Amino acid sequence: MTTLKTDQTVAIVGLGYVGLPLAISFVDAGCSVRGVDANEARVADLVAGHSPIDDIDDATLRSALERGLSIHANATAELGQADVVFVCVPTPINQAKDPDLEPVLSAAGLVRRHLRKGQLIILQSTTFPGTTTGPFRTELERSGLVAGRDFDLAFAPERVNPGDPASTGQLIPRLVGGLTPEGTARAAALLRRISASVHELSSPDAAELAKLLENVFRNVNIALVNQLALLCERMGLDVWEVIDAAATKPFGFMPFRPGPGVGGHCIPVDPYYLAWRAREFDFVDRFVELAGDINLAMPRHVVDLVAEALNEHGRAAKGARIGVLGVAFKPDVRDARNSPAADVMAGLAARGSEVSYHDPHVPSFRDSAGAERSSLGLAELVAESDVIVILAAHRAIDWDLVYDKAGLIVDTVGSSNRRTPRERQVLRLGAGWSRSTPASAVGR
Ligand SMILES: NC(=O)c1ccc[n+]([C@@H]2O[C@H](COP(=O)([O-])OP(=O)(O)OC[C@H]3O[C@@H](n4cnc5c(N)ncnc54)[C@H](O)[C@@H]3O)[C@@H](O)[C@H]2O)c1
Repeated sequence: MTTLKTDQTVAIVGLGYVGLPLAISFVDAGCSVRGVDANEARVADLVAGHSPIDDIDDATLRSALERGLSIHANATAELGQADVVFVCVPTPINQAKDPDLEPVLSAAGLVRRHLRKGQLIILQSTTFPGTTTGPFRTELERSGLVAGRDFDLAFAPERVNPGDPASTGQLIPRLVGGLTPEGTARAAALLRRISASVHELSSPDAAELAKLLENVFRNVNIALVNQLALLCERMGLDVWEVIDAAATKPFGFMPFRPGPGVGGHCIPVDPYYLAWRAREFDFVDRFVELAGDINLAMPRHVVDLVAEALNEHGRAAKGARIGVLGVAFKPDVRDARNSPAADVMAGLAARGSEVSYHDPHVPSFRDSAGAERSSLGLAELVAESDVIVILAAHRAIDWDLVYDKAGLIVDTVGSSNRRTPRERQVLRLGAGWSRSTPASAVGR
């Protein structure tokens, strides 16, 4: 196997939320970088200097293009010229919530066609333990070359949290596990060029499971507070007050907040990779399944809350005009993949409501019944809706306008916690009507 050269050529297959920032990190580290993507429209945008993701602005992309980043469609021989190839393609689930490795295997097939002795191949897509050393390796070895002998193979998960500047850059420790100790050391040395700290594991499988543990941890804890929110509604308590109080403990507690469900490419998807793999070992991962059940039921609960809010004001859900605020899966991002808004909007439409939305980051949005809508202006939405449902509290929304003008609000994300709404103006997930807000909680 080759040793680490200082003038590495790095190729990256899949230029999305994970692959594009990785490519730019390696350009910043002085490497020559070849980016490859199957989506021709995305390739054309990137070549023209238009970034498709929040965390990379156009100026940063253009600067990288001038300093050593080249972008290619899949039909390229550039992969064969790289010393190292990262695979950063999606790892979705199918209708039955089983892993769909098609993108990973088709990317492996692309790498295999250009594979040569001495290369280092690193899978970065989140996946179940056994992917790198199983189907991914098998596809690469169809080249006739053998992993660990002719080329190095490793798994190194990504930890970026889009929209959160604290999660990007060199300060975030990286994990890596290679097929051989030499492969691990080689991959770790490369990753140290873009990260101040690299933690080596004994195998790709252990690294794959460590990444899943991180995401399952989030999913389970979000489910825990979502369930607590439902209990607080019955008990007449305010879940936001309870969580804030528990969070004053300086050790042994980490606050998670309830909401309308989980979204994005990771939290609603990755736990099923673990559950699926566990079943192969005759093991039912009950935490994963239970957390999935609870979080998946939240959009339906939000639909019920909207009906309850309307009912309180003498209205039926049928025929009511509902204005949804924020359809991205979390605040301040344009990523609406797997957003709970899709189920909330389809559920409300199924009850006969007229549903519209405003999201400054998402110009058009398809609900889970397939209805596509365009974002309305905020003032128009507030003026024309019988009830406003807050699903993502983007900072770019004029909240004073919302609270001044909206007659009725269902708040699923604690957006109203620091306000003093009019009596019975706001029905809050996990806390009830605004008039029940304890004086001590107002102004938190
Ligand atoms: N988005 C996140 O916050 C995040 C964080 C950590 C890990 N991950 C993981 O990283 C992986 C990638 O996620 P993402 O959010 O970057 O996805 P993405 O959809 O933003 O980007 C993936 C890119 O891969 C391209 N692609 C798909 N199949 C391809 C193929 N066969 N060949 C070449 N290109 C192909 C797509 O066109 C797309 O541009 C997933 O496994 C995800 O779970 C994502």
